[in-house]
Amino acid sequence: MKALVLENIHPTAVEVLESRGYDVDLRSGALSESELVDSLDGVSLLGIRSNTTVTSRVLEAAPDLLAIGCFCIGTNQVDLAAASARGIGVFNAPYSNTRSVVELVIGEIIALARRLPEKTLRMHDGVWDKSAQGSHEVRGRTIGIVGYGNIGTQLSTLAEAMGMRVVFFDTSDRPAHGNARRMRSLDELLEISDVVTLHVDGRPGNAGFFGAREFALMKPRSMFINASRGMVVDNESLRDHLVSGHIAGAALDVFPVEPKVQGDTFESVLRGLDNVILTPHIGGSTQEAQAEIGWFVAGKLTGFALEGSTALSVNLPAVVTPPLNQGHRLGFLHHNVPGVLAGFNALFAADGDNVVGQQLSTRDALGYVVTDASAPLSGHAMEQLLASEHCLWARTW
Ligand SMILES: NC(=O)c1ccc[n+]([C@@H]2O[C@H](COP(=O)([O-])OP(=O)(O)OC[C@H]3O[C@@H](n4cnc5c(N)ncnc54)[C@H](O)[C@@H]3O)[C@@H](O)[C@H]2O)c1
Repeated sequence: MKALVLENIHPTAVEVLESRGYDVDLRSGALSESELVDSLDGVSLLGIRSNTTVTSRVLEAAPDLLAIGCFCIGTNQVDLAAASARGIGVFNAPYSNTRSVVELVIGEIIALARRLPEKTLRMHDGVWDKSAQGSHEVRGRTIGIVGYGNIGTQLSTLAEAMGMRVVFFDTSDRPAHGNARRMRSLDELLEISDVVTLHVDGRPGNAGFFGAREFALMKPRSMFINASRGMVVDNESLRDHLVSGHIAGAALDVFPVEPKVQGDTFESVLRGLDNVILTPHIGGSTQEAQAEIGWFVAGKLTGFALEGSTALSVNLPAVVTPPLNQGHRLGFLHHNVPGVLAGFNALFAADGDNVVGQQLSTRDALGYVVTDASAPLSGHAMEQLLASEHCLWARTW
C-alpha cells in the first residue's frame, strides 16, 4: 500500500500512515500537474496542502487512487466533481485549527483593550507614554460573537473564563454555552457589545453583510474583530468608523483580497492606522494545529481505505463505520438511483449470507452502502455487483 505525501505535511501524518501499513513517499514541495501524472502509479492515498492542484487529468492518470487528503481546511484545489465521478474520497481538516483561531482572538481582545498596537509603535519611536487613558480590563465587558459555530462556541467558553459577559447571534439555532446569552437579532448584539467578533462561514449570502449600517449600530468606542472571511466586511466603512473614533480599535486576520504568494505586497485601506492589528491570515497557523491536521486527515484516509468509513468526507456520502472486529465487510459506492439497494441485498440473500449490519447514505448523485455480513459474497455474486451499471466500486475488508 503506497501513499504519496507532498508539501511538508506534519510528521504526525506519516506516523499514522506507516502505523497502518503504508509505504510513504514523502516530498517537501508541491508537484505540477504533469509531475503528479507521472507519480501516481500504484499510489492509493495522496496527501496535499493548498499548493497542489488535482485536476481531472491527474485523476484519470491515477487508476489506483482511493482517496485524497487535503491537509488544510480548503478543498478547492481538487476537482471535486471529477473525484466524485471516479469514487475517489476527498478529506480535509475543518476543525483542527479552531483552538488556534480562538487563542489569537483572545489575545487581540486584550491587546485592543489595552491599546497595545499604539503603545508598542510609540515605544519603537522612543516615546514613553504611560497613560492609562482609553485602556481597559476585559473583565466585566461584553463580547458579542456573531456566528456561534465551532470557533464561536469555543471563544464563548474562553471569554467567559476571563470574566467577560458573552452574547451571541447565529442565523441557526445554536444552544448557548455556559452563561452566554443568545440575541434575537444582530442589531441587538451590536447595541450592547464592547467587542464585536465575526465567526460566520463563507456562504455567498454573507458577502459584505457587515458594513456602514452595522458599524454605526455598534457602541461608541467599541472594538471590532474579523478572523472569519475577508469578504464579509466592508473595510472602507470600518476605516471611516476607526478614523472618526466611533470604533476604538480593530483586528483583522482575513481580507477580501489576499496576496497569493509569500512576499507579495499586501494592499488594504486599513494599512497605516495605529489602532488596527493586521495579521496575514494566520488565525489557524500554529504548530499545534499542523500536528492536529496531520493526525486528523491521515486518520480519515486510513479509516476510509482500511475500514470503509467516509466520515467527514467532503464529496462522498457519509457512512461512519463501526470498528471491524470480525465478519466480512463490503462497501459499495453506486449511482443514487432507485432499486440499486434492493438488487445489492438480493445478492446476499441468494448467497445465503446473513447481513449483520448495514448503513446506507446518499449524497447528490452517489449512494454508499456498507454491509457487515456473516460471510463474504461469493465470487460470482461479486462479479455481478462489479459489472452492474450503477457500480462505481465495491471493496471488501
Ligand atoms: N483566520 C483563520 O485562519 C481561520 C481559520 C479557521 C477558520 N476560519 C473561518 O472562521 C469562520 C468560522 O469557522 P467555524 O469552523 O466556526 O465555522 P462553523 O461553520 O462551525 O460556524 C459558522 C457559524 O456561523 C453561522 N452563520 C453563518 N452566517 C451567519 C450570519 N450571517 N449571521 C450569523 N451567523 C451566521 C452559522 O450558522 C454557523 O453556526 C469560517 O468562515 C472559517 O472559514 C478562519
